[in-house]
Amino acid sequence: MAMSGHDDHAAFRDRAFFGRRKGHSLRSRQLGLMATLLPRLAVTLDRPAPNELAEMFPRRPQAVRLEIGFGGGENLIAEATAHPQVGFIGCEPFVNGMAKILASIEAGAIDNIRLYAGDAIDLLAWLPDASLDEVDLLYPDPWPKRRHWKRRFVQDRTIAALARVLRAGGLFRFATDVPDYAAWTLERLMRAPDFVWTAERADDWRRPWAGFHGTRYEAKAKREGRAPCYLEFCRRAGHEPLHAALAGCRPDLRHSPPYSCDE
Ligand SMILES: C[S@@+](CC[C@H](N)C(=O)[O-])C[C@H]1O[C@@H](n2cnc3c(N)ncnc32)[C@H](O)[C@@H]1O
Repeated sequence: MAMSGHDDHAAFRDRAFFGRRKGHSLRSRQLGLMATLLPRLAVTLDRPAPNELAEMFPRRPQAVRLEIGFGGGENLIAEATAHPQVGFIGCEPFVNGMAKILASIEAGAIDNIRLYAGDAIDLLAWLPDASLDEVDLLYPDPWPKRRHWKRRFVQDRTIAALARVLRAGGLFRFATDVPDYAAWTLERLMRAPDFVWTAERADDWRRPWAGFHGTRYEAKAKREGRAPCYLEFCRRAGHEPLHAALAGCRPDLRHSPPYSCDE
């Protein structure tokens, strides 16, 4: 069952952020972008979320999507460029990744991305119910050692938070090159009452969804001979039968953006 934003916050208060916040020192141009462009694009959690996330963008988008842990921003920039009618929120606590995407946003004069430079758990807790059309989690830190598994982003409570912020018919997309993390994620999403796996064929997990641009980590995984795994889950409306949930998610739209269930 989905939690309210308030409960979400309480549930995660004990959770630390485990990733890296900083790498090499930023160059002066990057520092300039962090000081001038980031404040203009930043999602600020110290005030309540707008009733409609569309209000955060200069041109009212038809849908709003979130990418968690965008790294260098390759996929986010490509998606935002390919879908100018969609608003994107990118979340990345790693300062160097944020500096990199700011340079790309400026170079491409991209106006449909908003950024949160922190832990996605806090962002999820801030977002209104059913406010997103899609959430992408691409190559999250795998935390391979058993004693670190609790650090993985995908946990039952994170899935509940995703279910709360996704609208019925919205999508959660996950990619990894770590078989154990793929199995971990599938196991948790399969037991989550709010989601249904959209796979139609036995090898669906081997193929990315249409239009996927790839990421830096994916390129590295392929270079090193690791096979990516792609999992796509649809947010169910309620306790409707699985076939009805899948119909609501328009599996045919796996091959084009699933912006509306009732089109
Ligand atoms: C392995 S990298 C993958 C980056 C990118 N998605 C790619 O495929 O190239 C994982 C990214 O997730 C980010 N990350 C880790 N924990 C996060 C969290 N709690 N919220 C948001 N991003 C997070 C890290 O900073 C890092 O950039």
